[in-house]
Amino acid sequence: MSVIVETQRLAIRRLTLDDAAFVWELLNDADFLTFIGDRGVRTVDDAIEYLNQGPLEMYERLGFGLWCVELRVTQTPMGICGLLKREWLDDVDIGFAFLPEFRGKGYAFEASRAVIAHATDVLGIQRLAAIVAPANARSQSLLGRLGMHYRTLVRAPNGDHDVQLFTLGIGET
Ligand SMILES: CC(C)(COP(=O)(O)OP(=O)(O)OC[C@H]1O[C@@H](n2cnc3c(N)ncnc32)[C@H](O)[C@@H]1OP(=O)(O)O)[C@@H](O)C(=O)NCCC(=O)NCCS
Repeated sequence: MSVIVETQRLAIRRLTLDDAAFVWELLNDADFLTFIGDRGVRTVDDAIEYLNQGPLEMYERLGFGLWCVELRVTQTPMGICGLLKREWLDDVDIGFAFLPEFRGKGYAFEASRAVIAHATDVLGIQRLAAIVAPANARSQSLLGRLGMHYRTLVRAPNGDHDVQLFTLGIGET
């Protein structure tokens, strides 16, 4: 198991193809579909393809990506949290999503803080971004508690709606 960072309650590790069933469940969660989008993952085999072309490819190319967040004591995969480099955004951005039963417990905040610390202290990333749907109040609240600030609306080249861009920079007030 390739652990990136641990916190009091959580282990953040690389996703593997063994996580395909968990990823299938997460990517078909109603809030994931509403607020992040439909990745077209209908079967566990689709999830394997998503993992290969998404997170696993990014680990190989950049050394980071979306990681799996587990409860340390039970090693239960609860969500994903990590770093992405999108072609259309200048900065690396942080992303997160948890299964419904693992929300409202502070896990996303705890994982995100650890990922931000890893990004700045280990990877030397000076500025982080996040993109969020305008209606995604829970995510906006989390970004605010992480010290991130709303900047502007942006739209992905193939997107059909604007998203909010947040940033967090060292020394930013
Ligand atoms: C966005 C998302 C990750 C936020 O998850 P979350 O669990 O609400 O976020 P946090 O980890 O910050 O948890 C905060 C909540 O945990 C509660 N909590 C319980 N125990 C806690 C603890 N030990 N420490 C901190 N907070 C705790 C807080 O009171 C707060 O509750 P509230 O929302 O009722 O006020 C989650 O809603 C999600 O997965 N959504 C679907 C995917 C998505 O939209 N991703 C974001 C795309 S931009």
